[in-house]
Amino acid sequence: MTDDVSRETPSVPDVAQGVFLDALPTAVAYADLLATEGILRGLIGPREVPRLWDRHLLNCAVVTDAVPLKASVADIGSGAGLPGLVMAIRRPDLQITLIEPLLRRTTFLEEVVGALGLSNVRVRRGRAEELHGVARFDVVTSRAVAPMDRLARWSLPLVRSGGSFLAMKGSSAETELATAGKVISRENGRVIGVLELGNEFLDQPVRVVEIVKK
Ligand SMILES: C[S@@+](CC[C@H](N)C(=O)[O-])C[C@H]1O[C@@H](n2cnc3c(N)ncnc32)[C@H](O)[C@@H]1O
Repeated sequence: MTDDVSRETPSVPDVAQGVFLDALPTAVAYADLLATEGILRGLIGPREVPRLWDRHLLNCAVVTDAVPLKASVADIGSGAGLPGLVMAIRRPDLQITLIEPLLRRTTFLEEVVGALGLSNVRVRRGRAEELHGVARFDVVTSRAVAPMDRLARWSLPLVRSGGSFLAMKGSSAETELATAGKVISRENGRVIGVLELGNEFLDQPVRVVEIVKK
């Protein structure tokens, strides 16, 4: 990480303490890295800084409410680490693999993992499809990676039987599910529904599509 980045520290909302508990200092350190190196390297836009907590860290953190204890998790298309890195910070019991094809992004992810001392995160450079038949996880997550049909094709082969696929989809969740039905059943997925997470912390709950692998 470079030393001469001008620091614009995003202010930490009160609710962050309740979400991250003991892990709050690590979450703050990650937010600072996103607001400095993340912007410098073009991984997030400068306009995201004032809404880093609301739109990114808090939203991503509450996805862990749908993840069982000690699960192995693959986050597809992590980009700058969202949601996978935030999930790893909030839940040290999880083993998280961040899957991301772009070198510039995996370099940043590896540096952040080192800087924050996260021992439960592994960074894997490549496309999700390259791991089909190679690796399986209890849970696969993603945010803003692809439309549901393509995402299901990439993600469901990575979920173990009985495990789940959690896609952060916001207001488009139902529409996307309706168009992806065939692909989901072909990949042995069973739609559980759209979860609303984080009600106790957020003004607007986070909407996550949950699909279980048969
Ligand atoms: C719009 S970004 C979203 C990044 C992050 N999930 C977020 O919400 O900020 C989409 C990411 O998906 C990655 N991606 C695209 N196709 C992929 C694939 N087949 N497998 C894994 N990652 C992929 C891209 O490199 C990019 O980093």
